[in-house]
Amino acid sequence: MKRNLFPLFIFSLVFFVSCKKDPAIPVDQTIEVEQPSYFPSPVYTFDNNTFTQDGFELGRMLFYDPVLSLDSTVSCATCHQQFAAFSNFDHPTSHGINSLFGKRNTPALYNLIWKTNFMWDGGVNNLEIQPINPITNPIEMGETLENVLMKLNRQKKYIDKVKLAFGVDSIDSQKLLKSLAQFMGAMSSNNTRYDDYLQGKPDAFNSSELSGLNIFKEKCASCHAEPLLTNNGFVNNGLDSIFSDSGRQKITQLAEDAGKFKIPSLRNIAVTLPYMHDGRFNTLEEVVDHYSNGIVSSTTVDSTLPIGGFQFSVQQKTDLIIFLNTLTDDDFLHDARFSDPAFQ
Ligand code: HEC
Ligand code: HEC
Repeated sequence: MKRNLFPLFIFSLVFFVSCKKDPAIPVDQTIEVEQPSYFPSPVYTFDNNTFTQDGFELGRMLFYDPVLSLDSTVSCATCHQQFAAFSNFDHPTSHGINSLFGKRNTPALYNLIWKTNFMWDGGVNNLEIQPINPITNPIEMGETLENVLMKLNRQKKYIDKVKLAFGVDSIDSQKLLKSLAQFMGAMSSNNTRYDDYLQGKPDAFNSSELSGLNIFKEKCASCHAEPLLTNNGFVNNGLDSIFSDSGRQKITQLAEDAGKFKIPSLRNIAVTLPYMHDGRFNTLEEVVDHYSNGIVSSTTVDSTLPIGGFQFSVQQKTDLIIFLNTLTDDDFLHDARFSDPAFQ
């Protein structure tokens, strides 16, 4: 597939050097942070966290290592599963140590360097800070940073890797967070039929997909803005009249933010079920039915959404779902560079 990408960083040189040291890394492992020409400028730029192959690999080891949790049972990847675009397929809400359940649906992870805020309520605004939350959250990984660092620094593989990545002899919290940011920040997802369409590739879409895209542009893209399919804002999309989770209000304390949640990107949406902050919907049909017939009134429901819903015809619903299914990036879901390093 011919694509118009402007790699921000190409580390073939670093790669060849590290390849000599570690012959186990296969040749197709060269990593670059892809930035398609039709995406906006990224928010996270790596200016203060120089991206390297070894930094990325360190982040990858950490992401897949359950040693980050109190009883070594839960890794980041336990909840963020690659085949589900790093969301969680098994549970409507997150499932952490001691089989404790969180209140919120695990979001997918991709195109994170374009995000201005993280979590459903935007409680975190920096990609590097984000991992402190799950590591220390008592119902996710239940650990302390201090303990995690002690456990990591006992292992030769981490000492060796942090030396290669940052030229130091032990991992501190900054190196832990920066390397995780390098791994997660490299997760660009932009290889879909929709991207073919955006690049003007003839016949990228058939007529049903085009019709779905047109409905999407008219009814959905004000929030799920092209091409990232989110405008990074917070709104109430009419799920409830009374809020069991007050969402954005938890962070701002403002009544006008009650029941508002971050507008999620819809890339890879066919594989990131269940849907919404609490995982209440299991299928795209249920989601589209919500927008068609289920939008309920409340103090903060977005004024662009009609109470009662858009009243789509059967054909419109079908076309919308067909369009949403063009947003799956199979290359990303199977990209060996983002997979568990233990299984290579
Ligand atoms: C127990 C399940 C669980 C584990 C383990 C977990 N996460 Fe998450 N992650 C979640 C949930 C749930 C959210 C959303 C929380 C919220 O909005 O309140 C989230 C949110 C995130 C986000 C923000 C995504 C966005 O678009 O807002 C990032 C990034 C992230 N996690 C990375 C990590 C990393 C790195 C680790 C390991 C250090 C990790 N997670 C471990 C469940 C988990
Ligand atoms: C007014 C802004 C707005 C509009 C318009 C809008 N959405 Fe959403 N959408 C949201 C918000 C906010 C959420 C998350 C809500 C939550 O979880 O509480 C969401 C969630 C979703 C989800 C679930 C994503 C996930 O990862 O769980 C899908 C799918 C979706 N919208 C599709 C659509 C479609 C299709 C349309 C057009 C028919 C549409 N949206 C119109 C704001 C909007």
